[in-house]
Amino acid sequence: MPQFAPLKNDTFLRALLRQPTEYTPVWLMRQAGRYLPEYRATRQQAGSFMGLAKNPDYATEVTLQPIDRYPLDAAILFSDILTVPDAMGLGLYFADGEGPKFERVVRTEEEVAALRVPDMASLDYVFKAVTQIRTELNGRVPLIGFSGSPWTLACYMVEGGGSREFHTIKQMLYSRPDLMHRVLDINAQAVAQYLNAQIDAGAQAVMIFDSWGGALADGAYQEFSLRYMRQVVSQLKREKDGVRIPAIVFTKGGGLWLDEMADIGADALGLDWTVNLGRARAQVGERVALQGNLDPAILFANPEQIRAEVERSLTAYGAPSAGHGHVFNLGHGISQFTPPESVSAMVEAVHAFSRAQRAA
Ligand code: CP3
Repeated sequence: MPQFAPLKNDTFLRALLRQPTEYTPVWLMRQAGRYLPEYRATRQQAGSFMGLAKNPDYATEVTLQPIDRYPLDAAILFSDILTVPDAMGLGLYFADGEGPKFERVVRTEEEVAALRVPDMASLDYVFKAVTQIRTELNGRVPLIGFSGSPWTLACYMVEGGGSREFHTIKQMLYSRPDLMHRVLDINAQAVAQYLNAQIDAGAQAVMIFDSWGGALADGAYQEFSLRYMRQVVSQLKREKDGVRIPAIVFTKGGGLWLDEMADIGADALGLDWTVNLGRARAQVGERVALQGNLDPAILFANPEQIRAEVERSLTAYGAPSAGHGHVFNLGHGISQFTPPESVSAMVEAVHAFSRAQRAA
């Protein structure tokens, strides 16, 4: 195992652990991506998205691009949640303009019976990238590892790609809950092993993206998404070399379930923009820190308006206090059409206003 440089900025990790910070740390979901011209240039060299993700040199380069450009407080591994179903043999590909797709789906009794936790060796390119990124970060900011939730991965595996209505997977859920549970149990084992291997490789925090949990009915969410995230969290290595590895759980559209989400053992909950930060803080109390939740569309406004919305959001969260923690973020991934200058305005406003809040 390589020796990594000591961390120079641990504000993000302290906020996740609900310890005092001098300002509110900030990063952005999808911070490395198509809105950055330097990303588009590297992607063109690599030829494709998976060409980028499977090459640790390229993955390192694009992970560091937003860190070099903005004073962000965390880096996130450049990869994708769909690497896991790809390693299960489903054949991930990106059709131009159509988003991710799979060559093979998991729908029938036979397809479910054949599903296995993938050999983590087939995901070695991800763990190599984690180690190389952590090395090249040289302690500037912590590195976040991530995975999709068991439910969100199942959505892609059963539907065969993105979906609006989730008819196929919901049909399985309601008519063959036994098959659904088997898929989710395998996914949960795979996700736990995958995140633990990222922690071993050097990830300093981990995040579970439950992008489609919000498509579920109340009751179904608890049984088919939350339950399996709890299973994953309970199996995570929570300490590495004597340092706590915080876990963040983000269900997009999960605002109505925060109370139950706060009890699954995660250190922090991600919030989308439908949630009021102050109300969420009161609801979760000192059980978890919060991460979020600016509407990514605000980044299409002018810098003055962006600053005003950042202030509104930090004011809604309220003054920092013992036992609480907040990491500023968007409520979902940044749009590829975002002007890069908007991100500067946002990050600077978060740092300046949150320092002023503490001085008041
Ligand atoms: O946050 C980061 O900077 C880390 C990288 C990251 C990517 N995908 C890179 C990526 C992360 C954390 C993800 C997670 C992811 N991937 C999720 C969960 C988060 C969410 O947005 O809800 C989901 C649902 C996916 C599946 C996926 N991968 C989609 C829907 C797409 C977009 C397809 C398209 O053409 O718009 C991808 C591809 C992808 N993953 C891109 C990036 C930067 C764009 C690919 C490109 O360069 O063409």
